[in-house]
Amino acid sequence: MSRLADAVPQPVAPSDVAAKLVSLALPARLVAPLDQARRDARVLGGVLRGQRPTPVRTVTQGPARAPHLEEVDLIDALFPRRIAEKLQQVRRDVGTVVGVLSGERPAPTVARRPRTTPVSTAPTTVATRPLRITRVVRETPDAVSLFLEEADGKALSFVPGQFLTFEVKREGQTLRRAYSLASAALPGHAPHVTVKRVEGGRVSNHLVDHARAGDVLHALGPSGVFTVTPDPSAADPADSTSPNAARHLLLVAGGSGITPIASIAESVLATEPRSKVTLVFGNRRLDDVIFRARLKTLQARYGERFVVDHVLQDPPAEWTGARGVLDATTQRERFTTLGVDLARAEIFVCGPTPMMDAAHEALSSLGVDPSRIHEERFTSPEQRKPVARPKGPQPVLVTLGGTKREVVQREGQTLLEAGLASGLAMPFSCAMGGCAACKVRLVEGDVVQEEPNCLTASERAEGYVLACCSRATGPCAVEVP
Ligand code: FES
Repeated sequence: MSRLADAVPQPVAPSDVAAKLVSLALPARLVAPLDQARRDARVLGGVLRGQRPTPVRTVTQGPARAPHLEEVDLIDALFPRRIAEKLQQVRRDVGTVVGVLSGERPAPTVARRPRTTPVSTAPTTVATRPLRITRVVRETPDAVSLFLEEADGKALSFVPGQFLTFEVKREGQTLRRAYSLASAALPGHAPHVTVKRVEGGRVSNHLVDHARAGDVLHALGPSGVFTVTPDPSAADPADSTSPNAARHLLLVAGGSGITPIASIAESVLATEPRSKVTLVFGNRRLDDVIFRARLKTLQARYGERFVVDHVLQDPPAEWTGARGVLDATTQRERFTTLGVDLARAEIFVCGPTPMMDAAHEALSSLGVDPSRIHEERFTSPEQRKPVARPKGPQPVLVTLGGTKREVVQREGQTLLEAGLASGLAMPFSCAMGGCAACKVRLVEGDVVQEEPNCLTASERAEGYVLACCSRATGPCAVEVP
């Protein structure tokens, strides 16, 4: 078979749809020249935009070509997939009825060919689910805890350290923000997030001021890999015969960065009777300390297994604890003074970016292997560097579960949105660059990606991008791992 016979049509472009509409009004003899002119213009346009005339294709699939006009299905091109399928069914039914009325015999019923692409019942958009606020508790003058349950009354389940993404409408815009679950992930502990007022925070400040019991929030997740899995069998570290040594966690938090850290600390202390936790917690003033009473209660309950070291920038006169900003010097000094066993501690860091960068500097100068440092960095979309959004639709070849499928990324869509809209069961969780659940390997072409995000240096070096915050700038191919 010739390569041309194998040629696969490119996705339908807006110019194809326009030409199809024009062709409906033209005499039949003019349709073929119009079709040829359109396909030539499409190739020329691609070349002028710097694209290769033949978009991404594997050799086994053969080259791509502009679709013929008869292949342009206006219903497919103009409507979302689910509506298009319904309209196409109506069109088939009407066609059958008209045929029967005009004396044709209807075609016999045949079984549909099984789909060769991984179309599933997965959502076709980044769909949230409702969570109900059961209680609102003021933690500090600037922070509230929102206790949550699933809208059907079921408990929310999560792993210590995970976060939820809330989708909130503000001034006509839909905004997404991530909030860590701060409660222990233990039976009998009601799940809650704790939200702190931030300067210019459109969602945080709205929740701090207006969230009430009974309100419903729209959420994605829980998500994230900044987690521990508490192990009740963790044994005495001195017992070299035990396969499950008890652990020593060093937790470093600044401000509202305490939220996932508190969940990790309480869950591990309650579940692992021989593990130890040291928390270094920086705040400006004593009144700013979120969970001050909760931490005190845990200290009283767990004694020397739980060391809490408050470091205040602007302490009250009677303060006898540590003072200063949690820069690299202060952190190095606190870790040494507290006698943290840095040779075996697992380290979790969450807080403002300068504090986290300082933690890396301090720990690296003390010889800590970076692989033992876990960190959680949150940035709202407004804090990200602006990236130019690609214009027009782009073809994206997605390999998922060993099957290839070409989808069209429409203007404004991310790779994830394009894949979901085409019925592909692309994995995702937070939809805002914080969990890596949506990572795909870019095997051909280019994307623009919003930064910063949670991809590690090694993931970047291996060619991974996050589908939820990347957009193809031309024909491209990605593989879902
Ligand atoms: S879905 Fe979480 S990073 Fe993309």
